[in-house]
Amino acid sequence: MSKPHRPETVTAQALGWIDETTRAITPPVHVSSTYIRDADNQYRSGRIYVRDNNPAFDQAEAVINTLEGGHQTLLFASGMAAATAVFQALQPGDHVLAPQVMYWSLRNWLMNFARGWGLDVELIEMTSPDALKAALRPGKTKLVWIESPANPLWTVTDIAASAQLAHAAGALLAVDSTVPTPVLSQPIAHGADIVMHAATKYLNGHSDLVAGTLTARADSDYWQRVRKVRAQIGGTLGSFEAWLLLRGLRTLHLRVRAACASAQRIAEHFHGHRHVAEVLYPGLPGCQGHEIAKRQMQGGFGGMLSIRVKGEKGGEAAAIAVAANTALWKRATSLGGVESLIEHRASVEGDGTPAPSDLLRLSVGIEAKEDLLADLRQALAAAHRRNTD
Ligand SMILES: Cc1ncc(COP(=O)(O)O)c(C=O)c1O
Repeated sequence: MSKPHRPETVTAQALGWIDETTRAITPPVHVSSTYIRDADNQYRSGRIYVRDNNPAFDQAEAVINTLEGGHQTLLFASGMAAATAVFQALQPGDHVLAPQVMYWSLRNWLMNFARGWGLDVELIEMTSPDALKAALRPGKTKLVWIESPANPLWTVTDIAASAQLAHAAGALLAVDSTVPTPVLSQPIAHGADIVMHAATKYLNGHSDLVAGTLTARADSDYWQRVRKVRAQIGGTLGSFEAWLLLRGLRTLHLRVRAACASAQRIAEHFHGHRHVAEVLYPGLPGCQGHEIAKRQMQGGFGGMLSIRVKGEKGGEAAAIAVAANTALWKRATSLGGVESLIEHRASVEGDGTPAPSDLLRLSVGIEAKEDLLADLRQALAAAHRRNTD
């Protein structure tokens, strides 16, 4: 096959690789945990043991690496295994900056484990380049972590500006790009050094596996330490999950585009709605970061949005009632699957959440947008009736 040029071609054909042994279009699931050593005691195949090297990873890693424009991509056992490897490859005493608004479980881990292991973790208002500039300690800050758009308020951080500031201080920039996916944003092209995905979400897209990825802009001693963290701690993906991930990747572009179109429509519909206090979505002019998102995302603003529901005493009961009244939207955590999910985010995140108590987080799937809209409209009306009865 000639070299594919467009990302949707790369994903649909998974780079066009076939299995050379069987001529199969779909790769087999490689399950071996170990590999034969040559008679002269060498390992010419390059494969020794599955924690560090598994042929089941090769194709998915190559597809994601091509989409991200990276030097190398590694699969991990989960998004959290990938994200924590970025921090575990640092040294005790290193200063790292992360956003106040970010995926809550990673924020929790940074506060409770990374700090305990000697990393000097500081959370800042990452959407402000001035705040980042003020917080950077040249020579001491080794890593800046950003997420854009960021859970669960969908705030947008300027990747290029953050990269410039981080690099000037001698720090690396890592980006959790789970929500935009490489369909909408390629952080390396904006200067990022490391790109992370919870592949559990859009990259797989079917809510049936847990996986993570890291992509490096370039090789370095630091990246080799990240590799060792995966191989030695063993945050390694299973072979069947890698196979499923490759299958999911083949439809990535179609799924993300459909989710973006519906999310934009839903956001526009509920913006200014009488039962809605606020819609948080980077695709709405006037929302934080809209202009930056227009620059660093192409083809849409993502499938994630949040709706703040009007109601008594801060709107918490009304928001929970809306979720309870949906018939089509599934009340579940997670995101990026083909089915649409709704959740009262503060209930999931607990203490310290930046999510207001009236906030519902919506992960828009690929169902007909008219059906999704109709279900949300009736759920809002039903919750409001109950509230005012
Ligand atoms: C933005 C983001 N980053 C990281 C993660 C962690 O991924 P995983 O659940 O695969 O460990 C999640 C999971 O919800 C997420 O939404």
